[in-house]
Amino acid sequence: MARHLITSAIPYINGIKHLGNLVGSQLPADLFARYRRARGDEVMFLCATDEHGTPAELAAAKAGKPVAEYCAEMHAVQADIARGFRLSFDHFGRSSSPQNHRLTQHFAGRLAEAGLIREVEDQQMYSATDGRFLPDRYIEGTCPNCGFDSARGDQCDNCTKQLDPTDLINPRSTVSGATDLELRPTKHLYLRQSLMRERLREWISSKADWPVLTTSIALKWLDDGEGLQDRGITRDLDWGIPVMKGDAPWPGMEGKVFYVWFDAPIEYIACAQEWVEAGRGSDWERWWRTDKGADDVRYTQFMGKDNVPFHTLSFPVTILGSGEPWKLVDFIKSFNYLNYDGGQFSTSRGRGVFMDQALSILPADYWRWWLLSHAPETSDAEFTWENFQAGVNKDLADVLGNLVSRVTKFAKAKLGETVPEGGAWGALEQEFVADLGQRVRAYEEHMEAIEVRRAAAELRAIWALGNEYLQRAAPWTTIRTDPQAAAMQARLGLNLIALYADLSAPFIPDAAEAMRSAVGTAPAWPGDMAAALTRLRPGAAYAVPENLFRKITDAECADWKERFAGVRT
Ligand code: MF3
Ligand code: ZN
Repeated sequence: MARHLITSAIPYINGIKHLGNLVGSQLPADLFARYRRARGDEVMFLCATDEHGTPAELAAAKAGKPVAEYCAEMHAVQADIARGFRLSFDHFGRSSSPQNHRLTQHFAGRLAEAGLIREVEDQQMYSATDGRFLPDRYIEGTCPNCGFDSARGDQCDNCTKQLDPTDLINPRSTVSGATDLELRPTKHLYLRQSLMRERLREWISSKADWPVLTTSIALKWLDDGEGLQDRGITRDLDWGIPVMKGDAPWPGMEGKVFYVWFDAPIEYIACAQEWVEAGRGSDWERWWRTDKGADDVRYTQFMGKDNVPFHTLSFPVTILGSGEPWKLVDFIKSFNYLNYDGGQFSTSRGRGVFMDQALSILPADYWRWWLLSHAPETSDAEFTWENFQAGVNKDLADVLGNLVSRVTKFAKAKLGETVPEGGAWGALEQEFVADLGQRVRAYEEHMEAIEVRRAAAELRAIWALGNEYLQRAAPWTTIRTDPQAAAMQARLGLNLIALYADLSAPFIPDAAEAMRSAVGTAPAWPGDMAAALTRLRPGAAYAVPENLFRKITDAECADWKERFAGVRT
C-alpha cells in the first residue's frame, strides 16, 4: 500500500478565502487526496490556518478584537467552510499552535548551530506618524522589479518577486498612509539561503517530472543574481512565535518574533503533531521523519504560483539546513490565478465570490466541478457567471444527472422494483465497455499525474459515453420488441451509476454518495471493466434518487452577476 503525504498551502487567517484561493491549493489537494484514498493508498492530508504576521494583526485590529481571539474565531469559521466544501483534511491545524512554536524554535536552533543564521544590524523602516517599526505588509510601494505600484513589503503580487520593505520605491505606511518613513537601526536574524544555492539547484534540476510552472519560478529566483538572497526571518511584532534557539533564549532578540513565512511551512509538520494531540492518530513521525519510516512516503504539495519561491527555496533551506532527517517534498503542484469576471479576485478589495457566499447559493459539488474542470494549470483562467452556468447545466445536469434519472426512472416504471436480469451483453455493450475501459485508464493516468483539467475532461467524456450508449441502445424502444434485451440494458445502466459514483467521487463527493445510496453500493475502485459493470445482483433493491443537479436559470445567473459585481464589505 502506497503512502501519500499531501499538504495544501495554508490559508491566511485574515478572512474568508475566495474561489481563486480555493482552486489554487485546497480544492485540487482534496481531489488528489480523495483519489489516492479511493485507490486504496494510505493518505495523510494536512492543512491549517496561517495565523501570524501583519495580515492577521491588521485584520484583528479592523475587527476590533485581540489578535488571539480573532484567530481562534476565524479558524473555526474557516474550518466550518472547509467542511462545507467537503475538504477532507485529516487535520486542519493552526500555525499558532504550541507544537508549531516548539518546532519553529527547534529549527531556528538547528539552523543557527549549522551556521545558517547570521545576526544583522539592520536598518528598518520606522514611521514617526505611527510610532512604530513597520514590517513587511505594513508597507506598500512600487515594485523595483516590475513597476507594479501596490507591491507589498514582502512580495510583489504582480511579478512574484520576494521583497524586503526597503526594496520598495516610494514606500508608504498601510496603517496610516504616512510617507514620513525613515530607516532606524534594529537587529535581526537572517537565513543564509545563498549558501545553499548549489544544493537547491541540484535538487530542483533532479525533478524532471515537476510542472513547468513550478520549476520555472524556482529556477528564475535561483538564477537571478538576487534570487537567493539571505532573508530576514525575524520581525518587530508582538504576535508570532518568540525568537528562541530551541528552548533557550536568544540574546539580543528579546521581544521579537519569527517572520510568518519562516514558521508557516513548518506548520505542515507541526500539524501532524496536532493531529496526534487531537487523538486522531498516534504516529506522526512515520509521515515526516525519513529515519522513522517516511522514506517510503510520497509527499505532494499544492499551492498558487506566488507561493512557489517559499516552497522550492526557503522551506527546503530550513529542512535541509537542519541536518536532520525530515521528509522533503517529492512533487510540487502549482497553479496560476483564477480571475473574476474581467478582473482579479481580491481579498483586500472584496472582489469576487467568497467561499461562504458560494455555498449560500449552491451546493459544494457545483462549485467543485466547475472550479476543478477550469483549474488554472497552464495559464490563468477566468470565472464568469455565463461560463459557470453553462458548465454546470451541461456537464452535471444534462449529462450525468440526466443519465442517472433516465436509467432509474425507466427501470422502475417498466421493469419492476429491483435490478432486472435480462440476457447476456450484445455487441453494442461489448464495444461500449471496451471504450469505457480505455477512457477509465486514461482518467487514472491524469489523476496520477495530477493533471486536473485533463482528468475532468476525461471524466466528462466517460459520462458522455454512457449517455451515447443509452441513446443507441434505447431500452425504452427495445422493450417493445425485446424485453429481455431491454432488461439487460437497464441493468447495465444501473451498474453504470455505481461505476460513475466511484469515478466521480473525488470531484463531486456528495452526488457520488447519492448515486451509491440509490444503487446500494459501497465505494470501490473499478479494476476489470466487465466485473465493475456486473456488480449489481439481479433482484437487488435500488431507488430513484432525487434530482442530482438542478439547472442554473438565466434569471439566477443575471441576479448573481449583479449581486457579486460590487465589493464585499
Ligand atoms: N498563507 C500563505 C498564502 O495564502 C500560504 C502559506 S503556505 C505555507 O499565500 F508554506 F506557509 F505553509
Ligand atoms: Zn513586481
